[in-house]
Amino acid sequence: MASSFFNLNTADMPCLYADRREKHRSAGSDQNFMQAGERLNMCNLKQMFQAVEIIRKKRDAVELASAEITGMVDGFMAGDIPDYQMSAWLMAIYFRGLSIDETVALTDALVDSGRRLDLSFLGRKVVDKHSTGGVGDKVSLVLGPVIASCGALFGKMSGRGLAHTGGTVDKLESIPGFRTQLSPDEFEAQLRETGICIAGQSEGLVPADMKIYALRDLTGTIESNPLIAASIMSKKIAGGASAVVLDIKVGSGAFFKTIGHASGAAHLMRKIGELRGVNVLPVFTSMEQPLGNAVGNALEVREAVSALRGDGPADLTDVVVALASRLLPLSDLGWDRRRSEQESRRCIESGAALEKFREWISVQGGDTRFIDHPDALPAARHVLSVPANRSGYIAGIDALAVGRAALELGAGRHRKDETIDHSAGVVLCVKTGDRISEGESLASVHSSTEEKCMAAVEALAKSYRISDSEAEPAQVLLD
Ligand code: URA
Repeated sequence: MASSFFNLNTADMPCLYADRREKHRSAGSDQNFMQAGERLNMCNLKQMFQAVEIIRKKRDAVELASAEITGMVDGFMAGDIPDYQMSAWLMAIYFRGLSIDETVALTDALVDSGRRLDLSFLGRKVVDKHSTGGVGDKVSLVLGPVIASCGALFGKMSGRGLAHTGGTVDKLESIPGFRTQLSPDEFEAQLRETGICIAGQSEGLVPADMKIYALRDLTGTIESNPLIAASIMSKKIAGGASAVVLDIKVGSGAFFKTIGHASGAAHLMRKIGELRGVNVLPVFTSMEQPLGNAVGNALEVREAVSALRGDGPADLTDVVVALASRLLPLSDLGWDRRRSEQESRRCIESGAALEKFREWISVQGGDTRFIDHPDALPAARHVLSVPANRSGYIAGIDALAVGRAALELGAGRHRKDETIDHSAGVVLCVKTGDRISEGESLASVHSSTEEKCMAAVEALAKSYRISDSEAEPAQVLLD
């Protein structure tokens, strides 16, 4: 098909978009949010743009101009580029990759598709943490109060669980009364007053990522480093943080199965951060087995409280302290890594982090009774044990299988619109390196129906590898 786009004077295209983007960027400096939606009305992408040519170029490994990338994103958001063309383009990117310049252009296009939070008026650095997603990952619930009790500002927009991985918003919603949907004003006010706010992604923030992510999920194009890097960094840039520690999960329960794949994405995210003024520090942690013992929303909140009491599973505490010791030096406290580690441990031991957690939950509308009375959290009607079918040492636990079992028990959702059972999940009784005798419990499964529990018992029994020889405890910090 002849392309009217390529017969146009293409030199005009970058200017057209660049001018508009410049307008939005400068608008953001004197208001808290940049309104970007109106630009979609200013151009008729259908006439100007032939998406098929852009798809062909990427298919043939030709580097795209930033205006072409912007045009794809804007056209998709305007409804001028249909799902099938966007899917084909994403698949071409999956196979051909994107250069750094292209990845940055994609990040910018995603950020500029919506509003952008500007927290600079707080006059302080706001630090953030992002996990690439895992099983039993309740780190934010512990790390946030640790950072805030040390005196730094911790502001984070979180997501819901997807597939076998959990999401912080779902975990927080298992706390009666807790509000995850805050307006930008509420987010900022709470951050200023209590030093911590974790909320669902503000409406209008990076809408293009939400729409494209949903398509990637259905078209097998999630596992692409440039797409992952642009998706994550667009949310961090739009969220207004000055510094982000990336908890990059590697292993069977993670997006990244190998450290090589994870390092490529980490490098891209650092580079995007460098170019867009966000200090990005990646930390690699293992997701070969679930983190901690609890997998499932209310179960994980309960375990987070134990960790804040200084009584949590060692691997969870190790990850929290490792991330805190890297994040606090990026705040405005002026601490080095050693001091940050000492102060984080001190805040847990003294109870300051738990008190900060109580304050945070209360300010965000949650009923704090569960902190001293865990029974105040949703509890499952049925709980079954998973017995070991032989004695030996735990040589490995398949995190993906545990995550899937929790999902089937009701702790997660297959589709975005599904409701979840906050009480459902799995509690591991033994982890890699532990000894077990035949008949002892490997784990317990929690659900509202006995049938789901029975299916999970069968699945979980297969997710444990038991060997006759002693096995080393798994290492959680990989770098
Ligand atoms: N998390 C995200 O936010 N985006 C991705 O693409 C993958 C993980």
